[in-house]
Amino acid sequence: MGVLSFSFFVFWVLEIVAAQVATDPNEVEALNKMIDKWNLRIKLNLTIDPCTPNATWAPENANPRIACDCSSTVCHITHLKMYALDISGEIPQELFVLNKLIDLNLGQNVLSGNIPPEIGQLSNMQYLNFGINNLTGLVPPQLGNLTKLLSLRFGSNNFNGPLPPKLGNLTSLQELYIESSRVSGPIPPELSYLKSLQKLWASDNLFTGKLPDFIGTLTDLKDLRIQGAMLEGPIPSSYGALTKLEDLRIGDLSKEDSSLDFLENLTSLSILSLRNCRVAGQLPDYLSYSANLKILDVSFNLLSGNSPLNFAKVGLSMNVVGTSINANFLQDEKASAMLHCLLGNKSCSTEVPATSFSIKCGGTEQVSASGIKFDDDSETLGAASLYTSSNSQWAVSNTGSFISNPNGPQSIAHTDSQIMETLESELYKTARISPSSLRYYGLGLKNGNYKVELHFAEIQIDDSQSWRGLGRRLFDVYIQLHLLLVCKGERVLRDFNIQEEAGGSKRALVKTFEANVTNTIMDIHFFWAGRGTCCIPSQSTYGPLVSAIHVSKGSDGVGTSKRGKKRVGRLVGIAFGSAAGLMIISSIFYLWWIKESLEHMRVHTDSPRKR
Ligand SMILES: *[C@@H]1O[C@H](CO)[C@@H](O)[C@H](O)[C@H]1NC(C)=O
Ligand SMILES: *[C@@H]1O[C@H](CO)[C@@H](O)[C@H](O)[C@H]1NC(C)=O
Ligand SMILES: *[C@@H]1O[C@H](CO)[C@@H](O)[C@H](O)[C@H]1NC(C)=O
Ligand SMILES: *[C@@H]1O[C@H](CO)[C@@H](O)[C@H](O)[C@H]1NC(C)=O
Ligand SMILES: *[C@@H]1O[C@H](CO)[C@@H](O)[C@H](O)[C@H]1NC(C)=O
Ligand SMILES: *[C@@H]1O[C@H](CO)[C@@H](O)[C@H](O)[C@H]1NC(C)=O
Ligand SMILES: *[C@@H]1O[C@H](CO)[C@@H](O)[C@H](O)[C@H]1NC(C)=O
Ligand SMILES: *[C@@H]1O[C@H](CO)[C@@H](O)[C@H](O)[C@H]1NC(C)=O
Repeated sequence: MGVLSFSFFVFWVLEIVAAQVATDPNEVEALNKMIDKWNLRIKLNLTIDPCTPNATWAPENANPRIACDCSSTVCHITHLKMYALDISGEIPQELFVLNKLIDLNLGQNVLSGNIPPEIGQLSNMQYLNFGINNLTGLVPPQLGNLTKLLSLRFGSNNFNGPLPPKLGNLTSLQELYIESSRVSGPIPPELSYLKSLQKLWASDNLFTGKLPDFIGTLTDLKDLRIQGAMLEGPIPSSYGALTKLEDLRIGDLSKEDSSLDFLENLTSLSILSLRNCRVAGQLPDYLSYSANLKILDVSFNLLSGNSPLNFAKVGLSMNVVGTSINANFLQDEKASAMLHCLLGNKSCSTEVPATSFSIKCGGTEQVSASGIKFDDDSETLGAASLYTSSNSQWAVSNTGSFISNPNGPQSIAHTDSQIMETLESELYKTARISPSSLRYYGLGLKNGNYKVELHFAEIQIDDSQSWRGLGRRLFDVYIQLHLLLVCKGERVLRDFNIQEEAGGSKRALVKTFEANVTNTIMDIHFFWAGRGTCCIPSQSTYGPLVSAIHVSKGSDGVGTSKRGKKRVGRLVGIAFGSAAGLMIISSIFYLWWIKESLEHMRVHTDSPRKR
């Protein structure tokens, strides 16, 4: 009797549970169709009701994830996550049956086609993520119907056309990620209604016009990133009101000069990067007192005047090559000599003038099949460093830091894979990378006409059919840039995409240029202008990459110089330990600091710290 009633009880409980999880049959049907379209049946075999409590796909960290609201008599799907599962094809119409969704995460897949206008029907949405996909077409204005949105991501896609002004209706929006989405045209003034915005990432787009003034009215902003977005300066003074900013990265502004005056009250800043913005004037003193500032990058600007002594007092490292800091203030004799030589004041080498040099960028010495000896260039380069080969035949200068990934590889990339389209696979298995600027100088060269061979192979970004294949590396190359005049060099490559030009990843590509040496120096400059994706397939995958350099005069290029057997790079080490009295004489084209603590500023590198 006892057993019977117990069984009855269990049966009754099960029935209640079953009744509770009666999910809207239309939603179940739509969901199953999507699962089949996306080949997810193996990962998500819905043999029971999708809203079953404690189902394996229900927890917050499940992926794929389905979660529901069962507070009425029928359950509705409210959360759907299919993240980084390489689902492909177009966004299916079945999705729009799930109109109670509040959180949809389809990020890091390879969805293609448009975002259908029916997206406007999902008006309960609060978190919407289409970031890192292969979506095309216009960004649909119907997104403006999703007025409950708190977070919207569609960065790293292939859209075209402008941002829809209707996005201005999303007045609850706190986060907007539209970086690398290829949107173009003016930034719609309607975005000024987004007063709740705390994060705006808009780098690497094809906008036109000026950096908008109205952003200065979005006073809740904590994190603002607009680099490589084709915008014109200046940085509006209205940005002085953005006092909650903790991370500000503006870069690559054209046309008009900017001043730093707006920084006065931005005391919460921890990261400040104003690279390549035509910032003119002096570096304000108060930056050096700022308690929160950890990283300050004002490289590639037009700063002038005396640098605040405070920076020098607390100890700072900087890359002065390409700036006009008075070389006499350098404490390091070798650094000073090198700088004098690069500034053309002193000959760089006492040896017979050379007629060629070859560098295995980021790797150890290698002799190619054709007998060219490529010098070792395998030193880890710090965030502001200048190294020379021990024979003084060439030097390399690196600037910048992968701000978002300080512990990742900073200056060398490596692969074990074979490289195609070359008989010299080894030459391409390592490469120099840089978050900002990588500059090679040939030194002590006989003047005349030279052939410059630049060897490339994309070894960090995939070319698979996965989301990992959606990255774009874009950078510029200048040859014989005037040392002190950034606009005077010849830009030989702009928005150069190794992978695209080589027809895939891990394929060799040699670009050949002619250049004249008139002052014994050859200057080859690889420069990131804020363009390309930042983080596909991994954090901080952007900026210049070069595998090898071979420069030769006329036709006598093959073979090695008889000078210098020892090829190990040597740190010249430009670091101002306590160079009080440091002066910045006139134009500064790049200058880069990291402040590690209130008392101490020093360069952040991967290598063991040298104090
Ligand atoms: C899904 O589950 C059903 C029933 O358990 C099973 O017959 C089927 O093979 C499963 N499908 C996949 C793709 O795992
Ligand atoms: C779900 O799991 C929790 C924790 O394991 C448990 O306390 C709860 O009773 C479960 N609910 C159902 C309906 O099985
Ligand atoms: C906008 O959302 C409402 C519900 O809030 C809905 O009735 C309407 O159809 C939606 N409009 C579009 C264009 O999707
Ligand atoms: C949406 O924006 C349009 C103008 O772009 C405006 O007319 C409309 O009232 C807005 N709707 C809401 C709900 O804010
Ligand atoms: C900084 O704040 C002070 C005091 O509110 C104000 O007078 C000054 O104009 C502000 N500076 C900037 C650049 O906005
Ligand atoms: C180059 O040398 C001249 C004469 O010695 C000196 O006046 C000038 O300051 C030097 N330039 C630099 C950049 O050191
Ligand atoms: C993305 O779409 C383009 C066509 O628009 C296609 O050529 C490319 O292969 C797609 N990429 C991936 C990773 O699927
Ligand atoms: C190098 O100089 C020669 C002669 O002065 C000139 O004709 C040629 O255009 C120059 N080449 C480059 C790349 O500047």
